[in-house]
Amino acid sequence: MPRTKLIAANWKMFPPPEGWDAMDSPYRATDDVDVMIFAPFVYLKTCVAAGLRMGAQCGHHEPTGAHTGCVSMAMIASTGCETVLCGHSERRRDQGETDEFVAAQAKAALTLGLFPIVCIGETANERSAGKAHEVIERQLRTVIDHLDVSQLATRNSQLAIAYEPLWAISGGDPTKPAAKPSDAQEMHAFIRSLLPEPIQKEMLILYGGSMKAENASELLSQPDVDGGLVGGASLKPEEFRAIVEAARTLEQP
Ligand code: PGA
Repeated sequence: MPRTKLIAANWKMFPPPEGWDAMDSPYRATDDVDVMIFAPFVYLKTCVAAGLRMGAQCGHHEPTGAHTGCVSMAMIASTGCETVLCGHSERRRDQGETDEFVAAQAKAALTLGLFPIVCIGETANERSAGKAHEVIERQLRTVIDHLDVSQLATRNSQLAIAYEPLWAISGGDPTKPAAKPSDAQEMHAFIRSLLPEPIQKEMLILYGGSMKAENASELLSQPDVDGGLVGGASLKPEEFRAIVEAARTLEQP
């Protein structure tokens, strides 16, 4: 089955951009391109009620408990969200999320019928030390080994990976360059080669890190780049619309 492109907006710790709920809002999913929005918790229910396909930016694997400040996957599912980010590098950095915690998050999300998008990526230092593949393999294997792959396969691979090299994440700097399309493709192909057979061809692998209107088409046309996880550019509605349009053009026969 061909992989339909998915463009995901990561609004990080920002409120919904102006016009987010308009009928022609670029944040609405369309027939030919999947669009999903990751917003801070307090906006999720309102955005779901307005008809957007929403996700949380993180979640705790335990259903309830003494975890001040956390929100469980069960609670996220109860808001009408469809999806959840697991292990974004800013959470690994700020909240100390480990590979094991990320794997537990993904498992809990799947159990509750949420679609986890697991973020992996290497730092600039790891890349320059020649360790990028080792880091990616470790992060990915910890998650895959934790999951019941046969269950994933029968559910048509309802898990996605987002490759987000930390050195390419904009951090709010719109001039930061993305990874070169050929470098992104090389790592995406490597990630795909590590996936177990039943889900290898079906699983979506998104690219994240300074994707914007000017580079989306070239990045998204790489054979193993199945979509984007867009941070800074997703907060500018017309720029985000252009990225979705780039994906739509590539989906045309
Ligand atoms: P960016 O963020 O598009 O601003 O680089 C991507 C992300 O952190 O998910």
